[in-house]
Amino acid sequence: PTQLAARAAYLLKGNDLGAMTTAAPKLYPHMWSWDAAIVAAGLASLSVERAVRELDTLLSAQWSTGMIPHIVFAPAATGYFPGPERWETARLAASAPKKPETSGITQPPVHVIAVQRILDHSRRRGKTVRGVAEEFLNRRWPDLMRWHRWLATARDQGQHGLITLYHGWESGMDNSPRWDAAYENVVPGRMPGYVREDISVVGDPGQRPTNAEYDRYLWLVEQMKSVGYDDEKLPAVMGFQVQDVFFSAIFAMACEMLAYIGEDHAKPHADVRELRAWAELFRSGVASTAHHRSGAASDFDLIAGQRIPTDTLAMFAPLICGGLDRPREMALARLFEGSRWCGHPDLLYALPPSTSPVSKQYRPKEYWRGPVWPVITWIFSFAFARRGWPERAAQLKDEALRLVADGKFAEYYEPHTGEALGSMQQSWTAAAVLDWLG
Ligand code: DGY
Repeated sequence: PTQLAARAAYLLKGNDLGAMTTAAPKLYPHMWSWDAAIVAAGLASLSVERAVRELDTLLSAQWSTGMIPHIVFAPAATGYFPGPERWETARLAASAPKKPETSGITQPPVHVIAVQRILDHSRRRGKTVRGVAEEFLNRRWPDLMRWHRWLATARDQGQHGLITLYHGWESGMDNSPRWDAAYENVVPGRMPGYVREDISVVGDPGQRPTNAEYDRYLWLVEQMKSVGYDDEKLPAVMGFQVQDVFFSAIFAMACEMLAYIGEDHAKPHADVRELRAWAELFRSGVASTAHHRSGAASDFDLIAGQRIPTDTLAMFAPLICGGLDRPREMALARLFEGSRWCGHPDLLYALPPSTSPVSKQYRPKEYWRGPVWPVITWIFSFAFARRGWPERAAQLKDEALRLVADGKFAEYYEPHTGEALGSMQQSWTAAAVLDWLG
């Protein structure tokens, strides 16, 4: 384990550009929002100061609306598409910063986990480090509030306690079967041509989304550009509009965590109250989608007006934030651990694949359609520890550490063979390992 932690630390150093850690050396040569948060959580075990710098870089790209964009572009990096020339946010979006350049969509709000880790680790260090963490929290508190407020308002205009996404990339689970039906309604029109970079980096295109999927991804970007990425105008033009339960569950957890942090650090009562109210609203929102017996949650397609029940990780959203009655919660935990999921007899390790291995849509090598993602395991393990299930949390951690023991720190893994897939040296895989071992 010490050796694995040392390799993880070495990897993060290798991907460090100074004030930002690229998500991966070749495939993702920029900063991704939820990657950066996990990276900061991992970095906190090595250096609280460096973890703070990572979040500062990300927050320096926050839009005036409060949105944290899903990509902050590294100035000189090439080899990624769609880059800033395609998004054109600095030119088209009134609320985007001119510098650094960013994308125009968002990603799951795991950032408070990093803040928590910064505070945790600083407590074990001397006074100077504690001061760095405190100063950071005081300085960024208003930005964290703006971020959460933007999600709770701009992305839940009807106050349903469910976050609306306008692009599958916002879920972080780009090509999950969760979004197949919603993407069927996205019919690409005329748009500038493009060349994908991702498939030349990942040699096997079968591990990445298809070209038809990419056309739709890019078309949605064009739709956003047509209204200058204006939150008020997006509902009228976007061909993809879904309520994401997994994102919403993370948000509920993050609001609750931030409320505790705020209380501990004497932040305004009104802020803490607001955070508690959002936590409650979104916990209920997630629970409201759950099946009456199994407790499995589902996304909702706002355009088709239909629930999207899938055998994917989305089902387990209530395990992250709570909100179910006890029988359904137990049923859902049994489903997670049982033979349709982590306990499937053909799986190498008892870890959650991104899609159930018994699902017809299961593809064990294809990105979010089957592979095991160490970072997702880490999120579940973190959430389970918070929910008062230390044994479940520890089991996920132990299994995941066995999976990544090869030291490749891949983006995702084949669930039956443990083959490393996608990008190697993925920063957040290393960061998750560091957090577990640190
Ligand atoms: C990619 O480029 O594959 C990312 O997931 C999009 O953000």
